[in-house]
Amino acid sequence: MTSVSHFDQAAQGWEQRPISQQLASSIPTAIQQAIALQPQHRLLDFGAGTGLLSAALASQVAEIVALDTSDAMLAVLAEKQLPNVRIVNQDIFHGMADTFDGVVSCMAVHHVADTAGLFTVFFQHLVSGGFIAIADLDQEDGSFHGDNEGKGVKHLGFDRQQLSTMLQNIGYQAIAFHTAVNVEKDGRSYPVFLLIARKP
Ligand SMILES: C[S@@+](CC[C@H](N)C(=O)[O-])C[C@H]1O[C@@H](n2cnc3c(N)ncnc32)[C@H](O)[C@@H]1O
Repeated sequence: MTSVSHFDQAAQGWEQRPISQQLASSIPTAIQQAIALQPQHRLLDFGAGTGLLSAALASQVAEIVALDTSDAMLAVLAEKQLPNVRIVNQDIFHGMADTFDGVVSCMAVHHVADTAGLFTVFFQHLVSGGFIAIADLDQEDGSFHGDNEGKGVKHLGFDRQQLSTMLQNIGYQAIAFHTAVNVEKDGRSYPVFLLIARKP
């Protein structure tokens, strides 16, 4: 991606933001508690950014493909020199050759307009028995990001029941949600769910 996005501009200070620190201290742990990661697993980290998830999970799996469209976010991840994290600068809708044992993601799904299309792409690139472990916002009133348009926000969080029905229609099974963390911002509390589901 050649254009400068909100994420390109935010990349340098990204991990110092209190929101990132709250997510970093909760979401990787929640995923590890929900999924028995295996040393042979190959994972996709969708919207990997600076590697909040990839850096925390890399030591437990064989390889993570860290996919993102922001040059600057991925440059911060590259500085971490994680030997089994393969950085791919690509829009997820522009085709991927790989298949994965699992797809992980933190706070990226609400930046994609076509939610059903996105979860369909995940499904197509999962092995049979593979999992998704997706952290994102529950429905909110638009105050979480403030400048939603400027920050590329396409959904003000998600309704768990609607998302669950969408996933069932795609073919996912064993769909489960729980609240992984309540992110505190400007005196308010925003629940972030962890969604787990399997491809049969
Ligand atoms: C809010 S950031 C989250 C970054 C990281 N997961 C974290 O929690 O710190 C969302 C990321 O998704 C990426 N992204 C949005 N749409 C994308 C797409 N269609 N394909 C790949 N990456 C995308 C953005 O570039 C951005 O880095």
